[in-house]
Amino acid sequence: MPTPLLTIVAPTLNERDNVVPLVRAIERALEGVAWELVLVDDDSADGTAAAAKALAQVDARVRCLHRIGRRGLSGAAIEGFLSSSAPFVALIDADMQHDESALLRMLNVLQTTDAELVVGSRHIEGGSSEGLSSEGRVKLSELGARLANRVTQVPVSDPMSGFFMMRRDVFDAVAPKLSVQGFKILTDILASSQRPLVVAEVGYEFRERLHGASKLDTGVLIDFAMLLADKTIGRFVPVRFLMFAAIGGFGVFVHLGMLALMHFVAGQSFALAQGIAAFTAMTTNFLLNNVITYRDRRLRGARIITGLLSFYAVCSVGFVANVGVGDYLFGYGQRWWVAGLAGALVAAVWNYGASSIFTWGKRR
Ligand code: GDD
Ligand code: MN
Repeated sequence: MPTPLLTIVAPTLNERDNVVPLVRAIERALEGVAWELVLVDDDSADGTAAAAKALAQVDARVRCLHRIGRRGLSGAAIEGFLSSSAPFVALIDADMQHDESALLRMLNVLQTTDAELVVGSRHIEGGSSEGLSSEGRVKLSELGARLANRVTQVPVSDPMSGFFMMRRDVFDAVAPKLSVQGFKILTDILASSQRPLVVAEVGYEFRERLHGASKLDTGVLIDFAMLLADKTIGRFVPVRFLMFAAIGGFGVFVHLGMLALMHFVAGQSFALAQGIAAFTAMTTNFLLNNVITYRDRRLRGARIITGLLSFYAVCSVGFVANVGVGDYLFGYGQRWWVAGLAGALVAAVWNYGASSIFTWGKRR
């Protein structure tokens, strides 16, 4: 068997029925090319890995990289690429939405021009996005593309495409900088490269999914926004801290709203109303941080309760530090608002650091 010229990586999560059609389609599209296909499966419940391994037993061009305890399209793509020693690597969805016949055109571009990366695009001549479920999704995808182009400085019509091919040596060079979270690996590669990459595009028609259901929810938009923020302001301040601080700022309004409601509307004493307001604000802050700031380490089920309790504990220490620092500075003649802000900042840094360890830290 010839050694492969091209490694195609297809991440799979519950794509059992698409595995065979995918291999057949690639086989037809790449006749005469020495290719291999790596199906990177995150231990799908529907038995995708077993289906992939059954295929691999009768076809030496197919491999299954079976991952356990891990999730994420980007991470799956990265591991698949890293398992390749072919000169070219490609990423394709396993659900047949990407038109495999574009692979040959991409390979030709890489072999005959100085392009290092070829993007399969829905938005140029020869491309279309009919398979995109809704008009809202089309609009969002356009907005995302504009933002991504700003950040990467490489104009690409479809920077969120999960369909592209590139030189493996170029991938190996950026690999250590890539995030394994989310689905935006192409934007990440473009933004993380030391020098602007030479990019070409090939149009293709985005088709309807063959079997199964989509795995990308609105959460991937948060991931995407965080990636863009990380590649811009992230050089100066950690984006996670900014998210945490912004949610803290929002918590001030929750606190004041609840205080007014309890004191003026419900007629409670100020002290009781203030206490209820503080707990309400801490609880909403915890819940928001859990779904946004710590999406990737999100606590679920009973862990939400223990997480919330540890968050209260962390915040009470922050509260003591806040008052202590503010009072100390005020006592040394600082203006009231300087002292107040300094106290709040110390508390924010403490709450952020301590909750990242005690509330959302790695499970033992
Ligand atoms: N291993 C692994 N792990 N694979 C995953 C995971 C995961 O956590 N999540 C999704 N996949 C696989 C799916 O099984 C599928 O083969 C591919 O990644 C794309 O997932 P879909 O759920 O089909 O995504 P989509 O059709 O909604 O999104 C499309 O549009 C995006 C941009 O708008 C895809 O083309 C994406 O690649 C593209 O980035
Ligand atoms: Mn899909």
